[in-house]
Amino acid sequence: SVYPPEPWRVKMVEPLRTTTREDREAALLAAGWNPCLLRSEDVYVDLFTDSGTNAMSDRQWSALMRGDEAYAGARSFYVFEQAVRAFYGYEHVIPVHQGRGGENILSRCLIRPGTHMPGNMYFPSTRAHQELNGATFHDVIVDEAHDPSSEHPFKGNVDLAKLRAVIARFGAESIPYVSLAATVNMAGGQPISVENLTETCALAHAHGIPVFLDTARAVENAWLVKQREPGRARSTVAEILRALCAPTDGAVMSAKKDSLANIGGWLALRDPALADQARGLALLYEGLHTYGGMAGRDMEAIAVGIAESVEENHIRARVAQVDYLATRLCRAGVPIVRPAGGHCVCVDAAAALPHVPRPEFPGQTLACAVYLEAGVRGVERGAVSAGRDPETGENRLPRLELLRLAIPRRVYTRAHMDLVADGVIAVHRDRDRIRCGLRFTCEPGQLRFFQARFEPT
Ligand code: F0G
Repeated sequence: SVYPPEPWRVKMVEPLRTTTREDREAALLAAGWNPCLLRSEDVYVDLFTDSGTNAMSDRQWSALMRGDEAYAGARSFYVFEQAVRAFYGYEHVIPVHQGRGGENILSRCLIRPGTHMPGNMYFPSTRAHQELNGATFHDVIVDEAHDPSSEHPFKGNVDLAKLRAVIARFGAESIPYVSLAATVNMAGGQPISVENLTETCALAHAHGIPVFLDTARAVENAWLVKQREPGRARSTVAEILRALCAPTDGAVMSAKKDSLANIGGWLALRDPALADQARGLALLYEGLHTYGGMAGRDMEAIAVGIAESVEENHIRARVAQVDYLATRLCRAGVPIVRPAGGHCVCVDAAAALPHVPRPEFPGQTLACAVYLEAGVRGVERGAVSAGRDPETGENRLPRLELLRLAIPRRVYTRAHMDLVADGVIAVHRDRDRIRCGLRFTCEPGQLRFFQARFEPT
């Protein structure tokens, strides 16, 4: 695996605390067997998420000083708006505190009870907002996305036949919009091709249905397009990013991912009437339409981060680091989602722990084992994350039962990646020692994976 030297050097360090296995056992017990409830002090390499955990550059830290904290009309808002317009190509930019703030506003504007929401798989917060507003979600992603071993280069693609079937069954008038993501987080950071995204928009638009894109990791998607999609190798990442956004009607963004920030986001729209409606809701749920829950300095840091995110040296090294970890695990026979995605490596927990029954949450069980072994924190992406079906109340059992190891941007070195790989490989080698799975002792109703508590079965 090629792993180009990082195009940055370290200017400030944050010391980490090492722990013993006994320390980690006590910490995990106190956390109810949910790594999400661990204190970060008790974690050595934290791969819980790549969201808001990025290292900002010296330029971003400098930009913080330029933050204009005026309540209304802050200069920082216009800097932020200009950056989003320039790199993503949408006219109307509404700042929000983070991605789900934008999801809330967009869902409230457009979704009515009894409607139907097609998407290329789902992200939990995205689907939760759609369901809260009364819609039923329909997965229209290609079948390969649900098969961890398929080497399909674009496992984020929409299966157009599935989308056509949803439109035919429920009627275009009951579909508020098509909800796409680039990349698809729950499939393992898998990209959608520009061609497929363009065709999907053409199909939806032919029925008068708008399309909104989750751009949290669209820059990573653009990089994977450059590597994998015929005819795109010579385009810049910035050009491909524009090509991904161009056919869509708007975007929801968590700037905590691609944009190299620690907090923030936006809702970007083309339709001025919808933008007015969304600004009205932003006032209620986020803050004034020129700050949306962010400090002026946050908007400055994001504006710089957007420009840095599409620099090819940055994005090449970032995705190559993910690929390095994936390759090490693969070579050692650990079952992972193939091919490696943009922001994470996902271990196929159902394959790694076949003796742990699916209702006992092999993904959550594996997350605990990896933490105990190496002080590395990942997150379950399987049945716990999928929650219960709102109609039947039954646990959903998605085909993908994963342990996600998400890599923060510009934070960890190759030695950290080796520590992670060694830890996961050791757990996999000794998997027979894991005798049982987990059951809930406390199960929250919304996004339960964040606060649930468990005990061994
Ligand atoms: N969309 C996608 C694809 C995401 O991955 C996330 C967050 C959101 C929307 C919501 O954005 O957190 O800023 O409100 N993903 C994080 C993760 C939490 O760990 O994957 P947010």
